[in-house]
Amino acid sequence: PIGQVDPRIFGGFLEHMGRAVYEGVYDPKSAHADAEGFRKDVLAALEPLSMTVMRYPGGNFVSGYHWEDGVGPRESRPTVRELAWQTIEPNQFGTDEFISLSRKMGWTPMLAVNLGTGSPEEAQNWVEYCNGEVGTRYADRRAANGSPEPHGVKLWCLGNEMDGPWQLGQVPAEQYALRAEQAGKLMKGLDPSIELVACGSCGVYLPTYMEWDRVVLEYLGDLADYVSLHRYVDNRADDTADFLAVTNAIDRQIEQMDAACRFVQAKRRSYKRPYLCFDEWNVWYRTFSREGMDVDGEFPRHVIEEVYNLEDALVAAGFLNSFIRHADCVKIANIAQLVNVIAPILTRGDELLIQSIYHVFEMFSKRREGVALRPAVQGPVYQGSLNGEVHYLDCSAILDGNRLQVFASNRSQDEEMDLSIEVADRSIASPQSAELLTGPDAKAANSFEAPDVVRSERFEGFEVRGGKARLSLPPLSVLAATLELES
Ligand code: AHR
Repeated sequence: PIGQVDPRIFGGFLEHMGRAVYEGVYDPKSAHADAEGFRKDVLAALEPLSMTVMRYPGGNFVSGYHWEDGVGPRESRPTVRELAWQTIEPNQFGTDEFISLSRKMGWTPMLAVNLGTGSPEEAQNWVEYCNGEVGTRYADRRAANGSPEPHGVKLWCLGNEMDGPWQLGQVPAEQYALRAEQAGKLMKGLDPSIELVACGSCGVYLPTYMEWDRVVLEYLGDLADYVSLHRYVDNRADDTADFLAVTNAIDRQIEQMDAACRFVQAKRRSYKRPYLCFDEWNVWYRTFSREGMDVDGEFPRHVIEEVYNLEDALVAAGFLNSFIRHADCVKIANIAQLVNVIAPILTRGDELLIQSIYHVFEMFSKRREGVALRPAVQGPVYQGSLNGEVHYLDCSAILDGNRLQVFASNRSQDEEMDLSIEVADRSIASPQSAELLTGPDAKAANSFEAPDVVRSERFEGFEVRGGKARLSLPPLSVLAATLELES
C-alpha cells in the first residue's frame, strides 16, 4: 500500500479565459441555458467526470482580478480591461455564480486570491465574504446578494504562478513569501479552518526551480498546507514514443517537490508536512503561441482550444497513474481546464464535443475509492529519446476491500500486449466492469463531424484462472478495470 487515494486528485479548473466561463459553463443566450444562465448540456456532459475540487477564477487571470468587481447586481458590475490574456472582463459571472454552479455540480470550491496586483487585506475580505457569519461588512454583503448562509470555502490558493515572468505582479521568492505570509495570516485569522496552497515552482524549466520552493516553504512554515505544481507537456518533436514516456518526468517532478517539502520540514524540525497540490496539468502546445491567443475585437475569444488525440489521452492517463502512484504526497490535482480552453469538452454554438482525454478522466474518476498499491511491473521496456527508459506498460492500482481497480496503458504503437494481473497475497475472483479506450492511430482525434473516433468501449476480454486475470491490450490503448478479489 502507498496511501489512501485522495478523491481531490480528480479536480478541475475553471479560469476566466477564452470561452471557458462565457460560452462555456455560462451562456444565458444559449438555447441550452437554465434559469441561472448555466449551459445545461455542458453541465450534463461534465456530470460523469464527477470532479471533486474546482479551482477558480485563475490561473494568470487571478493576478489582476478584484473579486468585488464580480459580486452584487449584474447591471452595476464593471467591465474592466484584463491584462493577463489581453481581453475584457464583463464580470457577469463571479463568486456567487461560481458557488451556485459548484453546489449544482457537487464540486468543492477552491478559490485563488490575487497576490499579483491585489492586497493581503483584499484576500482577507474575500474569505469573510465567503465564510463569515452575517453581522460584519463583507458577510452582510454576501447576504444582501442573496446568500445569508456562508459559502464555506475551505481551500484557498495564495496567488498563481508567482515565479513566472509572465505573471502580473511577479516578484522574487522572498517577496512572494512575504506577501503570501501576510495574506495567509489574515485569511486564517478570519477563518482558521481554511487550508492554504502556496505557489510552488510552476515550471521545471525556470532558473528558480526548487530554490523558489525552498525559500517559500521555509518562510511560510506551517502556514502552507500544500504547495502547488503545474505541468503542461507537449509533443512538439512529433516523437510519440518519447511523448508517452513523459510519465518519467511527471514522476520526477512530484518526487523532487516532495523532497523539497520533506527537506524544509526536517530543517524546520516541524511536525507538519506540506502536501502537493498539482493544480494545473494537461497537454498543451499546439495553441501555445501568442498569435494563437490574440483575436482582436472578439469576445469571448477562441483561445487555446486544443484538440486532443489518442496519444494525448494516453498521456492524460499517465498523469493520473502518476498521481495514484504518489498517493502518499499528491493530495489535490486539477486538470486544466474544464470547457473549451485546453479542455475535455468543446462547444460550437449549441453543439458540444467530447474529446479523447474526457474518456480517460471518466474511466479513472469512477474508480477512485481506496488505497493505492505499488505496482511491480515485469515486461518489455523501451528508451524514450529524451525521457529515458519506460515499460511499454504504464499502470496504477487501487484496492478497496475486495475490489481492485487496475489502470493499464499499452504504449506500444504497433504491438498488442499480453497482460497478466496478479495481487501479491490475494486471488482475483472475477472481472466486474472494464472499459478500453483506443483509436485508429496516435493522431486520431474526435471532431464535430466525427465525434466517436477515439472513444471508450466496454471491455470483456478477461480470462480469470488460478487467481490471475489475463487479457490482451491493443496498441495505444488505455484500460480501466474493476476486479473482484476472493475474500
Ligand atoms: O491554464 C492556462 C494558464 O496556464 C493558466 O492561466 C496559468 O496558470 C498557466 O500558465
